[in-house]
Amino acid sequence: MLVVLLLPPEHDASYNLAMLISHTISFVKIIMEKVILPGDIVVDATTGNGIDTLFLSQCVGPEGHVFGFDVQQQALDQTRKRLNIKNAPDNVTLLQVGHELMARMLPDEFHGQVMAVMFNLGYLPGSNENIVTCAATTCPAIDSALSVMKPGGVISIVMYTGHPGGQKEAVAVDKHCATLSPNLARVRRCTMHNHPAAQTHLLLIERR
Ligand SMILES: C[S@@+](CC[C@H](N)C(=O)[O-])C[C@H]1O[C@@H](n2cnc3c(N)ncnc32)[C@H](O)[C@@H]1O
Repeated sequence: MLVVLLLPPEHDASYNLAMLISHTISFVKIIMEKVILPGDIVVDATTGNGIDTLFLSQCVGPEGHVFGFDVQQQALDQTRKRLNIKNAPDNVTLLQVGHELMARMLPDEFHGQVMAVMFNLGYLPGSNENIVTCAATTCPAIDSALSVMKPGGVISIVMYTGHPGGQKEAVAVDKHCATLSPNLARVRRCTMHNHPAAQTHLLLIERR
């Protein structure tokens, strides 16, 4: 009963609080639901199969806009298909461009206006595992995201260490984010503390 009372009002009693601890994406979505308001401008930096893009599209609603980046046409096709099937608002621009070019690709009018950016690193599930995010582009993409965000905006970065190159990327992204000026951003790092083999790590960055 106590657990139910502690839940945010928009969640019903069937909501599983424990999932927020064990399931990283659920945790990210709770944070983002609090940060994003209808009408906001947001970015999905890795659209993949479009699950996060759909979530963002629904959060910002018809008055807002989502810019989705992925290097694979297949990912953008999957994302568009998901948005159509779910009758998402017509508020998503999909770009087959690396997220490291985010600032260059976003129209000038949105610079300084972006409220949230979601990174879900790794490869497209069910696809070519060699096409994968890597620190050489992820770190510049984080800097690029920070350059277009408004104060109070939040970046989430979900990192996986289970695939080849994943651990190397996570270490480099961690290191990069640890060096961000505290005047520019506050960085929170979340891991499964008592489970050293856990393969998912999360960074949350608040643009100041
Ligand atoms: C784990 S998947 C993303 C999952 C997705 N967020 C979802 O909801 O289904 C990672 C994606 O990053 C993409 N990717 C790899 N390098 C990239 C880059 N430089 N810029 C943007 N996307 C990239 C891959 O093509 C892949 O689709």
